[in-house]
Amino acid sequence: MTDTDTPHGTSLDRRTMLRGAAVSGVALPLLAACGGGGETSSGGQGSGGGPATVAAADVPVGGGKILTDQEVVVTQPKKGDYKAFTAICTHQGCTVTKVEGGQIVCPCHGSHFSIEDGAPTSGPARQALAAKTVSVKGGQISVS
Ligand code: FES
Repeated sequence: MTDTDTPHGTSLDRRTMLRGAAVSGVALPLLAACGGGGETSSGGQGSGGGPATVAAADVPVGGGKILTDQEVVVTQPKKGDYKAFTAICTHQGCTVTKVEGGQIVCPCHGSHFSIEDGAPTSGPARQALAAKTVSVKGGQISVS
């Protein structure tokens, strides 16, 4: 109604901007509220952002398991000996996609990394995958 008073719509523009700011000001706290504490703590797996966890039984001896969401690869070079590394290839940053033959494999240019220490064994990558800290409790592996 009062819009007819504005000669060139400048105050309308400002009002629109203010309204937009108010809306996003409301939306952000709502989003934050949704993200906080909604997940139950019993599962843990797949709740992106939290510590990466995987059942020890899901990590084969001589192989590994890639937790894509958490960008972590968990390996078991020897029975009961668990390791974890970043799943981000040191060559150009692709996410590794499989573990086979004792190697962690990057699909982009074929780099292979040892499941024991993350060291590059073939392909263009020259640096090892960074190791992460593993703790095993109650058959569950946590990576931090
Ligand atoms: S990004 Fe992994 S081999 Fe190139």
